[in-house]
Amino acid sequence: MSKQNVFKYKIIFLASLIGIVALLHYVTPTEPHYYHTIHIVLRKLYFLPPVIAAAWFGLRGAISTTAVVSILFSAHALLDWPGNYMEQANQMGELVGFWVIGLMPGWLFDRQRSLLQDLANANEETLLGLVSALDLREHNTRLHSQRVREYTELIADRLGVDEKMKRDIGFGALLHDVGKIAVPDQILLKPGKLTDQEWGEMSKHPEAGYRIVKRIGFLKDAAEVIHAHHEKFDGTGYPRGLKGESIPLGARMFMVADVYDALTSERPYRSPITYEEAAAEIKRLSGSQFDPVMVDTFMAIAPEQMQEIAVRYLDKS
Ligand SMILES: [Fe+2]
Repeated sequence: MSKQNVFKYKIIFLASLIGIVALLHYVTPTEPHYYHTIHIVLRKLYFLPPVIAAAWFGLRGAISTTAVVSILFSAHALLDWPGNYMEQANQMGELVGFWVIGLMPGWLFDRQRSLLQDLANANEETLLGLVSALDLREHNTRLHSQRVREYTELIADRLGVDEKMKRDIGFGALLHDVGKIAVPDQILLKPGKLTDQEWGEMSKHPEAGYRIVKRIGFLKDAAEVIHAHHEKFDGTGYPRGLKGESIPLGARMFMVADVYDALTSERPYRSPITYEEAAAEIKRLSGSQFDPVMVDTFMAIAPEQMQEIAVRYLDKS
């Protein structure tokens, strides 16, 4: 369900809850005693909407909801107890309770959200620092992994995956080559062809990356993308030779994004090619290296959207 829909349903739920409580409260008489008990219980139900609004929408949501509840409740106190100032004062005391119950959790939930956001930002910055260092070591640029992450997320968006999955896949794309930390410089940076033994060392990096990342709770799903980022759709990739849809979805998206970035960005040994040339090359590899569904999804993205990312992460080093 999209964020907007969730928001809409929450508002409808809150409005219905307030409406039902208010209606029952208004129509339940205060006499005889038996009804008065029900009436008092219903009055206590007015505490629910401010608390729910605080949990869902924070302080601002709690204030708006408590204001609506206060208006409905005050009208009832004035209409039901005309001239009975003692009872009206009693009811007004109840109103203060609504505000305390609404504002306190509203403030606490806002604070909790901002702390969680700080934590997420700190995680993000730490990961960016790590991948920038790795990119700089291998490519003499710092932004390859960040561009690939954004391209992969664009494909994920286009395919309509949910937000959590998109974030996990994005982290996988960002950290895809983290296992190269274990590859010695003389192999990683060797200009010519690798010997069989050197290639053996190099080809361990998806597995090494997977082992590093899978221990980190919030990166567990990203670890699957890392493990499979060199698998090919026709089963000729490594390390496990996975084929077709047995390759995790995120890795299948990543493969297209990674090759697109490699072809369209500046490298010391060759100039970048245009979007059209890169797209033709990706299409040529559809079904062999790439999942045709991912290729079609990539093709459906406007070139301007891809280029906007390239401009944002232009390598200047
Ligand atoms: Fe890799």
